[in-house]
Amino acid sequence: MCGIVGYIGNRKASEVLIKGLKRLEYRGYDSAGIALCNNNSCQIYKCKGKVQDLEKLLQDKNAEGSIGIGHTRWATHGEPNDVNAHPHTSMRGNFIIIHNGIIENYSKLKAGLEEEGYVFKGETDTEVLANLFEYVYLNHLNNGDKISPEDIIRETLQMVEGAYGLVILCNDYPDFMIAARKGSPLVIGIGKDEYFVASDATPIIEYTNSVIYLNDDDIAIISRSSLNLTNLKNMKKKPDIQKIDLKIDEIEKGGFDHYMLKEIYEQPRAIRDTCRGRLDFRSKSIHLGGLHNIFDKLAGAKRIIIVACGTSWHAGLVGEYLFEEFARIPTEVEYASEFRYRNPIINKDDIVIAISQSGETADTLAAVQMAKNAGAIVIGICNVVGASIPRETIAGVYTHAGPEIGVASTKAFTAQITVLTMMAMAVGLANKGLTEKEFSQLVDELYIIPEKIEEILERSECIRDISEKIKDVSNSIYLGRGYLYPVALEGALKLKEISYIHAEGYPAAEMKHGPIALIDEKMPVIVIATKDNSYDKIVSNIQEVKARKGVIIAVVTEGDVTIKSIADYVIEVPKTDFALAPLLTVIPLQLLSYYIATMRGCNVDQPRNLAKSVTVE
Ligand code: AGP
Ligand code: GLU
Repeated sequence: MCGIVGYIGNRKASEVLIKGLKRLEYRGYDSAGIALCNNNSCQIYKCKGKVQDLEKLLQDKNAEGSIGIGHTRWATHGEPNDVNAHPHTSMRGNFIIIHNGIIENYSKLKAGLEEEGYVFKGETDTEVLANLFEYVYLNHLNNGDKISPEDIIRETLQMVEGAYGLVILCNDYPDFMIAARKGSPLVIGIGKDEYFVASDATPIIEYTNSVIYLNDDDIAIISRSSLNLTNLKNMKKKPDIQKIDLKIDEIEKGGFDHYMLKEIYEQPRAIRDTCRGRLDFRSKSIHLGGLHNIFDKLAGAKRIIIVACGTSWHAGLVGEYLFEEFARIPTEVEYASEFRYRNPIINKDDIVIAISQSGETADTLAAVQMAKNAGAIVIGICNVVGASIPRETIAGVYTHAGPEIGVASTKAFTAQITVLTMMAMAVGLANKGLTEKEFSQLVDELYIIPEKIEEILERSECIRDISEKIKDVSNSIYLGRGYLYPVALEGALKLKEISYIHAEGYPAAEMKHGPIALIDEKMPVIVIATKDNSYDKIVSNIQEVKARKGVIIAVVTEGDVTIKSIADYVIEVPKTDFALAPLLTVIPLQLLSYYIATMRGCNVDQPRNLAKSVTVE
């Protein structure tokens, strides 16, 4: 998610904030804003667009003040526009806040505040928080209570579910700023009679290398000359001051060499964010708020048509298996570019699902328009709030994977599959395609997928070693069956688009109908062969390749000895439900393509000829 900067000291705050927000722009943003406080009054400047648009807005303003907060937004609730941009002020102006994260119970809190007469300017969950702070504060004042700003923050945050990185200014306490963290990172920089707060060290490091990383439930009360650290339980905490020696350009990628590698490693967090407020482990339930208005139509659909391009199309193929197995609804997956030009049959009771990371892909957008014109119900699965496709569809589910900067899609893919899995599970339960027991087991298994991905990421050295062995080949073939066939396609796309090695994905059984002619000792064959109902068949396919001297790299379930005895290289992944195997088995393939591409000196983040969002036909 996006970027936060706070400053209190003796410098010109606007300069610190703008420079800091620019340092955070690698995190992606759709709007930006700052609040500057000077002699007990605060001014807010914010707008849709990039930090440079905010700079233009400030040009003819008297942007004074030595206390301030700044934010680059990556929208989750409410489209990117001037009103929804941060900072947000409470209705009566007592609190100004910036927020990184998602308030899961914001709609319930908002309804309560509206009953108390609060009127909202925008649609964000953050504005709800600003008004909740004020509501709690004024209640105490009206009761004659003597209460500190940190007590207000502490009491209010106990009512909040979800993730936040917050910096808060309180009108009645002008010489303080308060930082609070739960789930979204915050770093405090300690200067001489000045303090900095930011989402990461990037905006801080040019001023000081003494930092404190806030932990979940921490609350920091910061003045120019003091920093008091407590937590939600009002326990005083000794700040753990650390010295950082990272160079600026390293930090912009969070210490990773490339955005793509950073985003591969972000996948456990991204999937947790995709599920946040939706997959309820305790009550074994799934709530997809963005589908409430059409859920019954989706559950009763006679046919689902998925339209997408590239990696999103591969996610759609996994969706086909999921909807047909869990919900028993006939599902077709179409390349949007083909769908829009072949005069397809679209019925009024069809459900069309458009999948797109950017939400701007021209072919997918055109397919959406076409489906709408034919009277179908069109749902969007997208990673960018307020993009064209979410605006054009009647319902949808945001993937919440956070900004994906690398051109080769990684965390958006697994987030898309996670959304499709939750959709198919919810529909399957509703129309009895799944029993309660099956549903509950899938909830448990999906819930622990992030930690299983973390286990795989810990094995990256073994994958790097295999990459070294095959980095100079000219061709390769990826094979998979069932749920793993789309993973074979995705693995092949990853390799070809960033390393420029020709790679084909194929259904494993199809190899005998032609591609087997390609097999020789120079041809690496990457087989995704985790334990499922076609395991024995894929073992035979591996034998067929070995019989022709092909080089086998197999992705297998931990503890597999059969394939280990015949393959040249093996990458193990934890055991999981057949239907969830794509979420695990794609990780080694992402890493394999990343390492091979870097070993070949390719530009991993911006491969030749490609663009992150193909907004042309
Ligand atoms: C994926 O690695 C590619 N960059 C590309 O295939 C991409 O998935 C495709 O262009 C679709 O983009 P979208 O998801 O933003 O619609
Ligand atoms: N949920 C908040 C919003 O949509 C914050 C998003 C972010 O992390 O930038 O405004």
